[in-house]
Amino acid sequence: MKILRKILLGITIMYAAAIQAQTFVPQATADSAYIFSYTTDKNNHHTGLYFAWSTDGTIWHEIGPEHAFISGDYGNWGPEKRMFTPSLHKRADGVWECIFRPSDKEEIVAYTTTPDLVHWIPQDYFSFAELKKRSNAWHTESKTDPTLLFPKQKLTLSTSGTVTGEVHRVPFATVQGLLNEVARVRHNNEMNSERLIDDARRFKDLKPVKTTINVTAEGEKAISNRLLGIFFEDISYAADGGLYAELVQNRDFEYHPRDQRYRDPKWKSDYAWTVEEGATLAIDSINPIHKNNPHYAVVNGTLINSGWDGIVVRKGEKYDISLWGRTAKGRQEVGIQLRDEKGNIIAETSLTIGKGDKWRKASGVLTAKADNDKAQLAIVVEGNETYHFDMVSLFPQKTFKNRKNGMRNDLAKVLADMKPRFVRFPGGCVAHGDGLDNLYRWKNTIGPLEARVPNWNIWRYHQTVGLGYYEYFQLCEDLGAEPLPVLAAGVPCQNSCCPNSNRKSGDPLLGQQGGMNDEEMQTYIQDVLDLIEWANGDPKTSHWAKMRADAGHPKPFGLETIGIGNEDLISKVFEERFTKIYDAVKARYPEMQVVGTVGPFWEGSDYEEGWRFAKEKNVDIVDEHYYCPPGWFLNHSDFYDHYQRGGTKVYLGEYSAQLSTHRVNSIETALCEAFYLCNVERNADVVEMVSYAPLFAKRGYTRWNPDMIYFDNSSITLTPGYHVQKLFGNNAGQSYLPTTIQVSDLSHNVTRRLAASCVRDTSTGDIIVKVANLLPVDNEVAINLPITAASQSATITAETLTGELESQQVTPTTLSGAVLKNNILKAKLPAYSFTVFRISQ
Ligand code: AHR
Repeated sequence: MKILRKILLGITIMYAAAIQAQTFVPQATADSAYIFSYTTDKNNHHTGLYFAWSTDGTIWHEIGPEHAFISGDYGNWGPEKRMFTPSLHKRADGVWECIFRPSDKEEIVAYTTTPDLVHWIPQDYFSFAELKKRSNAWHTESKTDPTLLFPKQKLTLSTSGTVTGEVHRVPFATVQGLLNEVARVRHNNEMNSERLIDDARRFKDLKPVKTTINVTAEGEKAISNRLLGIFFEDISYAADGGLYAELVQNRDFEYHPRDQRYRDPKWKSDYAWTVEEGATLAIDSINPIHKNNPHYAVVNGTLINSGWDGIVVRKGEKYDISLWGRTAKGRQEVGIQLRDEKGNIIAETSLTIGKGDKWRKASGVLTAKADNDKAQLAIVVEGNETYHFDMVSLFPQKTFKNRKNGMRNDLAKVLADMKPRFVRFPGGCVAHGDGLDNLYRWKNTIGPLEARVPNWNIWRYHQTVGLGYYEYFQLCEDLGAEPLPVLAAGVPCQNSCCPNSNRKSGDPLLGQQGGMNDEEMQTYIQDVLDLIEWANGDPKTSHWAKMRADAGHPKPFGLETIGIGNEDLISKVFEERFTKIYDAVKARYPEMQVVGTVGPFWEGSDYEEGWRFAKEKNVDIVDEHYYCPPGWFLNHSDFYDHYQRGGTKVYLGEYSAQLSTHRVNSIETALCEAFYLCNVERNADVVEMVSYAPLFAKRGYTRWNPDMIYFDNSSITLTPGYHVQKLFGNNAGQSYLPTTIQVSDLSHNVTRRLAASCVRDTSTGDIIVKVANLLPVDNEVAINLPITAASQSATITAETLTGELESQQVTPTTLSGAVLKNNILKAKLPAYSFTVFRISQ
């Protein structure tokens, strides 16, 4: 058998060598041409599938040049997404298949198909042997690199230099399709690069304009009653060190170098902790307070925590202190102090810890005698006996709604001010994690704090999960918002790298696109079902619901919608696992609405396949994401006008206008978002929910820009984008009134810079008109309103957001001079402004 295999392998290799040696003989006809498919080794193979074309096989024209019709999607973010030796094959049914090696180390191939060389389906990844299951074009022994089986040719091209690739004869229309695609992308890029700050040139001679906005009650349509919400992700220290009000950093002594991918040698169990001179601090794990929290501090002197660059305390405020401690020979009473930078004591108490081997939880209260932004917490022990401490916690009593283990009041309050209708949590990438071992598992985040399972954060820090599922659901309730938990679809982040430690041979590929195996899926699906039970079940009959009740919430949380998946590669691995979870949820809880995912972009293979798949499965809602330049939002005001009604709805779960040069949240980006949201609101019969991303970033710890709310330990910066969200959240409606715009200047450049949307708040009867004037000139508007003669005494409030385009800190002001007469509301909108009129009848 072995010998036969060797002979067959030998023949295969000889055949491969023979076909490689063939030379290309041109045979094009009038309506056909040649294409040359290749990649380069530039940027360490962080490249793509490129084409050149020729009619005679001699003179070649690069397409793009170097326009990537496929990009490697395997491996970690950025440069790890590579491509080697792409090989194309046209099947008898006319479909093109492409394989390439995404890595020069692993013996795997990426596989994808297309009808036209332009629209490719998301990649699947196979070992050399597994490829046979998908395509018989590259039949080979498992050890032979299948990408080398078809004949290769060398060409010297002007941009790419001398490259190796394959020549195929195609109808000329195929070449035309490739050229059209490049032209389309180029045109899009041009539109996307449109900036308001370039308007001086674009609108050189523009005079102030007059605009008539016609609003009619005819055709009034019901729209989503939960349009604007928030997306909370633990990114940029949004949770620990942020919204979660804990003041002690690394309270569990579980920081691990892995949290930061081993970049900072100091990032370990004693991070943020010191001892006073002469004392020692060690970390041990023998007989811990809980197996999920194995490390604790061993000290023989005063132990000090510096918080996140200091602890903020305010005079007269009370702080809950708690810790677990034990000492074999020392005094059980230990002192607790808050000290200022000079060592002065600004709050003090004492706690009694356990004796001998026995851990004891001790709690008390500290009252600050002075304001301080850089305080430290000291656990003072006398003598030099040994002490063990763990789970050292300090919380302000004034948390949001005075919850124990609660949220920072000022940060939660600015969320409440937005009147969000829902909160998506615990993240995008955080939810599906950096490899299967890092998936966010909700069961690890509930119950006693010392028994929760901390995890590393894909954004490279530590999650105590003190802000866990119970706290998230409670926050939603406190905000008056619906909970929208997002769970991974049995696959990790498509940009992650880490192998699943449980992997057995034959399991799907490691890391990233590799999903859970069947056994893991069974447990995982049960976890998803248990979540619904935990949130909504009856404590008398359900184990999980009883846990909720025991934690303090006997009433159901009223979970109606869950997300499955985040920006996943819509590969077969994903589709299989999503289907299993989705079917199980729908079988047991048919009323539960499920939000699926369609990848990270507003177009492309994941978007197209994600939508096809969602429609096929009749998924309730899909989650779209796009972070685009301001010009994209300006030029896609009709994006949802064409969406099919009556089927799967949209949750625009992550979006923001991003400048490629400097990632700031400015008046310019905010106005483009407001402009776009007017159009989203018009389409709120198909767009069910929308949330900006990311929400929070701590200054000095920011992992992503721009964000909606920046903060440090004591202050908050609300961006212009925040005010746009707040204006929409505070001025929501439940029905949409058809709105049209007529401008005195009819030139296309002018008309397309205006957006308006009118909704009715059916609870108050108020009519709300929102207008984005993205022109560099004032705009006199006359808004024809469908109000009755009896409503002529209506009151108007008008708020406007405007300012220097580059300004990053402006707040809305009242727009004066708005008058309502004979059903017509007249006002002067400032240049570059977003205005909300509320007409209360
Ligand atoms: O919002 C930041 C990240 O952007 C999210 O975690 C992820 O879903 C997206 O890529």
